[in-house]
Amino acid sequence: MSELWVERHRPRTVDDIKGQKQVVDRLKAYAEKRSFPHLMFAGPPGTGKTTAAIALARDVFGDDYRRNLLEMNASDERKLESIRTKVKQFARTAPVPGTTFKVIFLDEADALTPDAQGALRRIMEQNAQTCRFILSCNYSSKIIEPIQSRCAVFRFRPLADDQVRSMVVSVAEGEGINLDEDAADAIVHVSLGDLRKAITSLQVAASMDEHVSREIVYETTATAPPEELHRFFLACREDGFQPARRRLRELLDRFGLAGTDLVNQLHRGLGDVPFLTEGQKLSVTQTMAEADFRMVEGGGEALQLDAMTARLCTLLSPEMKS
Ligand SMILES: Nc1ncnc2c1ncn2[C@@H]1O[C@H](COP(=O)(O)OP(=O)(O)O)[C@@H](O)[C@H]1O
Ligand SMILES: [Mg+2]
Repeated sequence: MSELWVERHRPRTVDDIKGQKQVVDRLKAYAEKRSFPHLMFAGPPGTGKTTAAIALARDVFGDDYRRNLLEMNASDERKLESIRTKVKQFARTAPVPGTTFKVIFLDEADALTPDAQGALRRIMEQNAQTCRFILSCNYSSKIIEPIQSRCAVFRFRPLADDQVRSMVVSVAEGEGINLDEDAADAIVHVSLGDLRKAITSLQVAASMDEHVSREIVYETTATAPPEELHRFFLACREDGFQPARRRLRELLDRFGLAGTDLVNQLHRGLGDVPFLTEGQKLSVTQTMAEADFRMVEGGGEALQLDAMTARLCTLLSPEMKS
């Protein structure tokens, strides 16, 4: 594993970014005009925010773009003072010849407190003549209104399953990996639209064996496959408490899951369990939410999971069917 595949396969120009069509179309227009306002990229991890910021800088400034781009991560910069100092120094250095502005990319800007964001806003204003800011965040609502209103806001979405799949397949081809069809589906399933997670999962699985199977994917990503989750619900319904409890322990051990991971995966898998009625799914959801909350609040994992299993056995046993 000499190089991270997420880096090696990071799109270099805006045009190569997968999905995010509306974002890409607007950024391409900026690239053509070689100019843009302050930007804010909001969206979940692994959807292309950092990639888009760097690719846009490259498209606008050419291969020498690093001279015009300052990258900072707000969660590393404890004090706003250090951001101020870096911005000041950077604004002073010579730009790429023929360009009129520089770009400051502040990743994870929502890590800044509202006070720090207020100071950031002043830094943006003081340098508005020479610098454009690109801020990235998971939620735009965590950025103070006066900053939002100074930026063009772009929303990045989780990638669609077929987009994740085609990316994973092409990375596997590029890396000379033999990826089973159902292993590609498993990567799509575990990554939930997060391309960083998808490509990393592929690399981790491939480091175990150049032939990547569905099983390896699930085992290396701490994810129980859907049929295993179904079996647990089935055991609750058919076999009673002790066997269901054994299944649950087995899932935790085999896939290396914490109690809350398991509950969340069960929740996600619940929708397509064929043998449960709508009414049962509603009650099961409430039960799982309660177990999750109690574990997060510090309730003992073993006891909470047993209590959840006991409740599921009661809810799902055929006598209870409504
Ligand atoms: N829309 C996308 N198109 C192509 N690759 C992507 C995309 N989003 C993420 N990736 C892949 O995932 C990696 C991480 O993406 P990044 O842009 O850093 O995500 P984030 O939204 O968390 O900033 C990239 O190096 C790239 O390999
Ligand atoms: Mg990022």
